[in-house]
Amino acid sequence: MSRQLIVAGNWKMNTTIKEGEKLAKSIVKKAKANDPLVIMAAPFTHLQSIGGIVKGEKGIEVAAQNCSNELKGAYTGEISVGMLKSVGVKYVIIGHSERRQYFKEGNALLAKKTNTVLGSGMLPIFCCGEPLSVRKAGNHARHVSKQLREGLFHLTKKEFSKVVIAYEPIWAIGTGVTASPEQAQEMHDKIRKMIARKYGDKIASTTTILYGGSVKPANAKEIFSQPDVDGGLVGGASLSATDFSKIIKAR
Ligand code: PGA
Repeated sequence: MSRQLIVAGNWKMNTTIKEGEKLAKSIVKKAKANDPLVIMAAPFTHLQSIGGIVKGEKGIEVAAQNCSNELKGAYTGEISVGMLKSVGVKYVIIGHSERRQYFKEGNALLAKKTNTVLGSGMLPIFCCGEPLSVRKAGNHARHVSKQLREGLFHLTKKEFSKVVIAYEPIWAIGTGVTASPEQAQEMHDKIRKMIARKYGDKIASTTTILYGGSVKPANAKEIFSQPDVDGGLVGGASLSATDFSKIIKAR
């Protein structure tokens, strides 16, 4: 079985509902049957409406950017997997570096969130990646290995086979600095080997590993053509239908 190619757009806290609907419609319009799977991670308030826009479109899915690890109850301001599922969400981003950094989400909580997402029947896009200081010290592989061990490697083989991984070096997110294709390939290869050691070669070879961090139309082709890079998680450039569509078609 070959790996699923994915280009996911992470809109973060951007767009009003009208702007989001317009963006989603133009992305859908430009989509072609042989494109990789396209995922739009829109703000919570947009998910139902954008779910309606992509409904029936093959190869386009909607994602949430976060969820609670709790199923329901007195957790003011949180959103549950049941709520997300009820509006047609298929994927949930877990452990984006902005969640880790600004909202202090640690590996133990992210392991719980992953369980909750899988338990609901949705699929996690689990983010990992190192800050600049860790990269400079040459400890990036160790850092990511810890994130995977503590956040994901408690899963059974069957559960793990549903997970999409996004490697996003923090120093490349929103900075305009992209990891070089060689740096991306090096880490993706290491991540695949970590998975192989834990779950075996078969699962490792079919796990989708996305690269994220300043992916743009100008650099997407070079990054996506690396053997262990299976697409991208795109922030800034996913807010332009033109740029995002170019990235989708980059491979
Ligand atoms: P960026 O964000 O493409 O704007 O660097 C990527 C991400 O945060 O997923």
